[in-house]
Amino acid sequence: MRSTQPARAPARRSFVALTACAAAVFAFAANQAHAASVEVLHYWTSGGEAKSAQLLKKMLEQKGDTWVDFAVAGGGGGNAMTVLKTRVVAGNPPAAAQIKGPAIQEWADQDVLMPIDDVAKAGNWNSLLPPEIASIMKYKGHYVGAPVNIHRVNWLWINADALKKVGAQPPKTWDDFFKVADALKKAGITPVAIGGQPWQEAETFETVALGVGGAAFYKKAFVQLDQATLKGPTMVKALETFKRIKAYTDDGQVGRDWNLATAMVINGKAAMQFMGDWAKGEFSVAGKVPGKDYLCVAAPGSQNDFTFNVDSFVFFKVKTPGVEKGQKDMAGLLMSPAFQEAFNLNKGSIPVRQDLSLSKFDDCAKKSSADFKAAGKTGGLVPSWAHDMLVSPAVEGAFYDVLGNYWISKDETAQQAADKLAEAAKAN
Ligand code: GAL
Repeated sequence: MRSTQPARAPARRSFVALTACAAAVFAFAANQAHAASVEVLHYWTSGGEAKSAQLLKKMLEQKGDTWVDFAVAGGGGGNAMTVLKTRVVAGNPPAAAQIKGPAIQEWADQDVLMPIDDVAKAGNWNSLLPPEIASIMKYKGHYVGAPVNIHRVNWLWINADALKKVGAQPPKTWDDFFKVADALKKAGITPVAIGGQPWQEAETFETVALGVGGAAFYKKAFVQLDQATLKGPTMVKALETFKRIKAYTDDGQVGRDWNLATAMVINGKAAMQFMGDWAKGEFSVAGKVPGKDYLCVAAPGSQNDFTFNVDSFVFFKVKTPGVEKGQKDMAGLLMSPAFQEAFNLNKGSIPVRQDLSLSKFDDCAKKSSADFKAAGKTGGLVPSWAHDMLVSPAVEGAFYDVLGNYWISKDETAQQAADKLAEAAKAN
């Protein structure tokens, strides 16, 4: 039917078209205004870590925000923290950064972190988080950190075939461990895979100290930084046990990244690795099955203990308008059930919110969760100092130096190293 519109129809039609077009532009702009760009500093660059980080990126983008990746390679995060400091000093902090433990308080003390109490309240974090973890995320009672997971550090990962080859059982005590290590060495298999980096040596020592001295000793030494304990006989025994492991490692360890040491166990080039359960993320990416291809066991002597390491993100006050929306989106996402399940299934850790079913998780994760709960009741739950959860960055770095030098020294005695640990505890 012909249009009965007056001659002005083209003008009117173009006005309508123009309005529609303008509305579309404004809608897009509005959406863009809502679509915040969030620059995220993290150090998850290994196979398993990167896969987990990609999940966070994808879920943030599904909220309409843009993830600007600011990955700084280097296991344990030392490199990332150095880069972060330069960015903050330059007055140009990233919107979000992977920071945990006392460093959260130190950054909050600089008044550079955005409080996220509104997100925590909306997400009921106080009722979902273990109290000792919630307190790490708060500064003067306000949430400034969003937790992601619970990693367990005191694990020993074992290649199942290698253990079968020597007809051994997973070692429960340190005497057992060295018997198994001797049998593996005799069979021509490198018993222990390790990367020659300070944080890996420190983490291995932290696990040995827990197994040799127990949780009460660990807390006296590393929570209270008690001088007599740090230089006492139990610490000397822990240091001797730690250094004894060296003879069961390979010469190619210098500078080796942790995930390449894990790959040695995955491929049977080595039999065992002391490492937190981010290592499980590497086994998963390699398609390995726990209980069949590899075993996850508590490190010798630490079956009733759990060294926790909780990854978290803080959100810096940034000048760019509109970013805050993306920061809050990300904070809420990190503690959401969907993200907690998907991320931790890949990362090797267990969810930090305590209300989730672990039905989709493997036996290592289920064991980790059961041990976390049990250790929480018996006093066996301890924070990892080697992974930024306990001592100040200054003391942690000083401990790294003492242990790294002791590990490579030809003649330093355990007592000399213990005395240096006591001195290092005074660093500030
Ligand atoms: C830890 C971190 C883990 C994992 C590991 C190796 O400090 O909490 O998520 O990334 O370093 O890089």
